[in-house]
Amino acid sequence: MTNPAKNQLPSKMKQWVLASRPEGLATVENFSLQTVPVPKIKEGELLVKTLYLGVAPVMLRYMTNETEFEKPLEIGDVMHGRGVGKVVESKHPDYEVGDILQVKLRWREYAVVDGDDPYFMIYKMKNTDLPLSHGISSLAMSGFTALIGMREICNVKKGDQVLVSGAAGGVGSQAGFVARSLGGERVVGIAGGERKCKVLTERLGYDYAIDYKNDDIAEKLNEYFPNGIDVYFDNVFGEILDEVLLRINRRARIALCGRISEYLKSPDEYHRFKNLWRLGLQDAKLEAFFVYDCEKYFSEYEEQLAIWIREGKLKPLEHILEGIEKMPEALISLYEGKNTGVLMVRI
Ligand SMILES: NC(=O)c1ccc[n+]([C@@H]2O[C@H](COP(=O)([O-])OP(=O)(O)OC[C@H]3O[C@@H](n4cnc5c(N)ncnc54)[C@H](OP(=O)(O)O)[C@@H]3O)[C@@H](O)[C@H]2O)c1
Repeated sequence: MTNPAKNQLPSKMKQWVLASRPEGLATVENFSLQTVPVPKIKEGELLVKTLYLGVAPVMLRYMTNETEFEKPLEIGDVMHGRGVGKVVESKHPDYEVGDILQVKLRWREYAVVDGDDPYFMIYKMKNTDLPLSHGISSLAMSGFTALIGMREICNVKKGDQVLVSGAAGGVGSQAGFVARSLGGERVVGIAGGERKCKVLTERLGYDYAIDYKNDDIAEKLNEYFPNGIDVYFDNVFGEILDEVLLRINRRARIALCGRISEYLKSPDEYHRFKNLWRLGLQDAKLEAFFVYDCEKYFSEYEEQLAIWIREGKLKPLEHILEGIEKMPEALISLYEGKNTGVLMVRI
């Protein structure tokens, strides 16, 4: 337990609060930037300086309290969010000044964290010789999600024919590398636009790319999967999944990671599936999963992903914006497809 020279800390910090609830996609008016005193800590707490904040599609749903796994957000509350931070003060025996943590920091420059409260999901990073931004990308939730989906849910093995949607996004930019490292033979990605598709094949290790905004998806799936699809890692849901179902092989595995094509829709607008019967016909499985359910394995995931990074089998692609002021526009931009790789903000 150590304490720094307190006078090195600024007296004020910035934080973003929820100003109003969005209808559909948020606008910057739904957020308010405040300057407040840097908080003081009590026994059992840590003061953590935010280094990077992750930006995830789910944050939009926090604003309308649509998820069950985050605390309800009232108007005026600091926006929920997870990031990488450095302990600058500690009154908890398990944490020292200088420790690098992945933790629920919320959208603020300094956060008080209760060292014993499981809500914060404190995870002490080990591979801190690698860039600390990886604590948002490959050595954190988006990398862990790619690993869980490909290994635990899809059990990718040698020779598999693998497809990934949302392939140029945060999770998708790693899912292809993970599938290949596990033995996937053909790995194809789906993304929006020519530029992103080029990134898939030239930077992210995909064999082929399908541009869902301009290509005929059915035609491209037939061309790239003449022998059918064994594994589908789905970030998008909806019509593309229905099209994929028509081409799954016997004992195919589909990981339902995300449903970004539906997050801005109401349930009556959701896609109505026509081809689910193919799961029964092909003795296939479709399984949704949630990364936080696997918290006890995070350390093992970090080790595996760090090994692949050091071996050059996983090349993190990070889209980094500068300054806490950028948080609202960063979140909005995810829904506009502006990011390539893992979107984060350096604080
Ligand atoms: N299961 C879990 O535990 C878990 C954990 C983390 C994330 N997720 C989910 O995984 C998915 C990816 O998350 P991420 O954080 O890596 O975000 P991300 O993929 O970086 O998300 C943004 C991307 O989604 C694509 N997109 C946006 N609207 C779309 C639409 N209507 N149809 C198709 N694609 C659309 C855009 O790419 P294009 O330009 O290619 O359209 C955009 O760049 C999300 O659905 C998220 O909710 C799940």
